[in-house]
Amino acid sequence: MLMLIQEHFPDLLNWNFKFVATDICSESLAQARLGRFNQLEVNRGLPAAMLVKNFTRQGESWEIRESLRKRVEFRELNLAKDWAGLPPLDLVFLRNVLIYFNVETKKEILGKIRRLLRPGGYLLLGGAETTFNLDDAFERVPIERTSFYRLKA
Ligand SMILES: C[S@@+](CC[C@H](N)C(=O)[O-])C[C@H]1O[C@@H](n2cnc3c(N)ncnc32)[C@H](O)[C@@H]1O
Repeated sequence: MLMLIQEHFPDLLNWNFKFVATDICSESLAQARLGRFNQLEVNRGLPAAMLVKNFTRQGESWEIRESLRKRVEFRELNLAKDWAGLPPLDLVFLRNVLIYFNVETKKEILGKIRRLLRPGGYLLLGGAETTFNLDDAFERVPIERTSFYRLKA
């Protein structure tokens, strides 16, 4: 996300914002915190120009630039449990995760997002996911080839 912001909206990097990146998996978080990836991992969809611009080579690995990494705070979080300590959020990217939960838990998770989402904030889900029939407070907003969700006025 930060690489795309840098590419398309570089002035935004002067704003005071950060990403809070969460997962239940401590090994994934440890690797993400390190910001170090092997050749196979960086070959999965990252354009070569972005790789060269944002990573430095460390032996067999590629390490993300500190100026980008420091914008991200990594936290272990089980979405199905307590979300204590998460700040109000402007944008929530929850792609391909709701699919793992039953309807009741999906409703609880969307409720937590609803309470944390700042006015004017947006939620992005995976292509196979929706708030429809789960939380009527959200409305879908089609944007080009995708869609976001926001709270109804
Ligand atoms: C299919 S991946 C999607 C990752 C990423 N959002 C994406 O779109 O590429 C699902 C992720 O959800 C995480 N996950 C599964 N159950 C979870 C839970 N209860 N709380 C938080 N994260 C969970 C997994 O560890 C995995 O990283």
